[in-house]
Amino acid sequence: PLPSLSDTFGRFHSYLRISLTERCNLRCQYCMPAEGVALSPKSELLTTEEIARIARLFVANGVDKIRLTGGEPTVRRDLIDIIASLKSIEGLETVAMTTNGLVLTRQLVALQRAGLDIINVSLDTLSADKFERITRRKGWDRVMMGIDLGVQLGFNPVKINCVVMKGFNDNEICDFVRLTEEKNVDVRFIEYMPFSGNKWEMEKMVSYKEMVEKIRKRWPDFHALRNGPNDTSKAWKVPGAMGQVGFITSMSEHFCGSCNRLRITADGNLKVCLFGNTEVSLRDAMRAGSSDDDLTALISAAVKRKKKQHAAEPRNLSHLFQRPSMNSVRFYST
Ligand code: GTP
Ligand code: 5AD
Ligand code: SF4
Repeated sequence: PLPSLSDTFGRFHSYLRISLTERCNLRCQYCMPAEGVALSPKSELLTTEEIARIARLFVANGVDKIRLTGGEPTVRRDLIDIIASLKSIEGLETVAMTTNGLVLTRQLVALQRAGLDIINVSLDTLSADKFERITRRKGWDRVMMGIDLGVQLGFNPVKINCVVMKGFNDNEICDFVRLTEEKNVDVRFIEYMPFSGNKWEMEKMVSYKEMVEKIRKRWPDFHALRNGPNDTSKAWKVPGAMGQVGFITSMSEHFCGSCNRLRITADGNLKVCLFGNTEVSLRDAMRAGSSDDDLTALISAAVKRKKKQHAAEPRNLSHLFQRPSMNSVRFYST
């Protein structure tokens, strides 16, 4: 591990998440208000070249996996060029993308040709009507076709992210598990997290324990698998199923201790934690003429300020509600 991406708690950061845009073609209830979010002017977003420069710098300092996120990364026009330029960086092993899946049927072949290695697709329901309720848009069937195309094209496996909310989709947990028997997909259930403005309520969160109990009633042999050192999700499996089931327990058992992730927001800020504030504008530094060494020093200093763990565990939540702006965590830069 190189010193610049190591923090003061012994964590080395080899995984960079780059948000390409704040825009999205859906309006998920837990993420955005119906009218959308205030967008930064295009001039404030990183350009294709700036993204490539930042990526090269992080890879030179030990990053081996980059995930493209949003908003929705596929709404960015230069996505293909971005992927291609990332793939040309020596030392970068994996280029991944987290997407809502809406346009995969149109774009995935080209994205794969450009070098995209991994896709995670967000899908919270297996009902077209409920999809329209939670995302405030149509498109469930397109997302499902996108997932199937991913499987066909050999993305192995396609990961489906499902945010579980009591009273909305907790009655579909077993249907999602059954998908892992029917298709080569991994389904990851995500504990619903509080972001300012998403009307998070403790009562809506379904914990890892509750989910496992529910699944075990139907599949008594449902069992835990071994996990990688930096996995965000705890892997489980129904014996004989093609895919795995994962649980992302951000709320009930945070995984900050093994966090290896750093983030770049669409407007070029470095964030060292999903639940934290931005640390430093790499965009401003680049536009002011900083050298690669200057940038590395800025990044290194920010990483050294990374805290031991995030403050969004249930017992720490009260201040999140009283002063949401202090935390202004909006998913569109996850
Ligand atoms: P893999 O690389 O496939 O393991 O994906 P990932 O889990 O890193 O990325 P993805 O974009 O699919 O994120 C899925 C969920 O993981 C998000 O909704 C978050 O709930 C959670 N997550 C990702 N990164 C972090 C993080 O740094 N901190 C916390 N607490 N949760 C995270
Ligand atoms: N709680 C949990 N997961 C969330 N995501 C977005 N908002 C929340 C939230 N409040 C998920 C998306 C996507 C992933 C990257 O983050 O559904 O799958
Ligand atoms: Fe868009 Fe993802 Fe937010 Fe839904 S969760 S509105 S798909 S960015």
